[in-house]
Amino acid sequence: MKEKILVTGGTGFIGSHTVVELQNSGYDVIIVDNLSNSRADVVDNIEKITGIRPAFEHLDCLDYAGLDAVFAKYGDIKAIIHFAASKAVGESVEKPLLYYRNNLVSLINLLELMPKHQVKGIVFSSSCTVYGQPDILPVTEDAPIKKAESPYGNTKQINEEIICDTVKSGSPIQAILLRYFNPIGAHPTALIGEMPNGVPMNLIPFLTQTAIGIREKLSVFGDDYNTPDGSCIRDYINVVDLAKAHVVAIDRILQDKQAEQVEVFNIGTGRGLSVLELIHAFEESTGVKLNYQIVGRRAGDIEQVWANPDKANNVLGWKAETSIEDTLRSAWKWQQKLREDGIQ
Ligand code: UD1
Repeated sequence: MKEKILVTGGTGFIGSHTVVELQNSGYDVIIVDNLSNSRADVVDNIEKITGIRPAFEHLDCLDYAGLDAVFAKYGDIKAIIHFAASKAVGESVEKPLLYYRNNLVSLINLLELMPKHQVKGIVFSSSCTVYGQPDILPVTEDAPIKKAESPYGNTKQINEEIICDTVKSGSPIQAILLRYFNPIGAHPTALIGEMPNGVPMNLIPFLTQTAIGIREKLSVFGDDYNTPDGSCIRDYINVVDLAKAHVVAIDRILQDKQAEQVEVFNIGTGRGLSVLELIHAFEESTGVKLNYQIVGRRAGDIEQVWANPDKANNVLGWKAETSIEDTLRSAWKWQQKLREDGIQ
């Protein structure tokens, strides 16, 4: 029998790609999503890719009774991957209570329900934002956690602590915290991808919208950082590679391979790219010229961060595989598909 995995936020950007990879690996997926930042037709597109329709429950993870009913309805859910969260850094500064309520209470509800429904483990969607500006690069998992720059970042830190404290208190659950670097790109079929609401805040959606003519020009936030070309450096990880890390994490939990009840892994490529390098890589790999200009720094930006992914490579047995060129081409193909479909 196929093992059942609950994916919260499974119609979102990273969630939808993870559902595809879980199904490709033989898991039976149940999605819970409130569609606050995604569309119901993502479920159709997942089915087009894999040939299997995942179960879908339109539900907010703040709804404890609703979640309880989902666990009871499907029965025997073995593990959870928890993506459902609000994720806009700027918005979190304006609406901190919304972020704290959404992001903390959703996780608390799941952790309370896991023992009741004999759910063995949870994979939590964390972020390299917990490291702030690391003192040593590339950053390893044991680098100190820095004070969060935003309520969004703080919810990632607090949620990691909530999981650790719950396990310390004797809860029988297993947990894997995946600290993502900067997820980009789209599925090679261009059937699923990132769908930003309104003006994109993140680099790649803004860049592809500029390339297709929705935005007049891309602003590069600062060229006076202490980096070789002066622009910020990040570790851009392909979203399908990232999705595969979740499958390996779920395998690890279900096959009792964990060395500790809570494990933490950096999910990145190990390669830092500057904003300017990324722009040039996009131009070269797609043949599309980008209109961009250097502007001032963006408040709250980290100068440079990239992963040491050795632990994920050696312990988890996962490695980023897709080249940055293929990743950027997939993002461009996705943007063109959105245009074709009249969406963006
Ligand atoms: C941020 C968050 C991260 C979160 C991610 C997804 C922090 C420190 N980082 O990552 O936790 O998971 O968003 O929501 O809170 N840039 C431009 N022009 C643009 C947009 C971005 O030059 O129009 C630059 C930025 O200055 C940055 C890089 O591109 O150097 C990447 O920015 P972005 O895609 O927004 O991601 P982060 O800020 O790294």
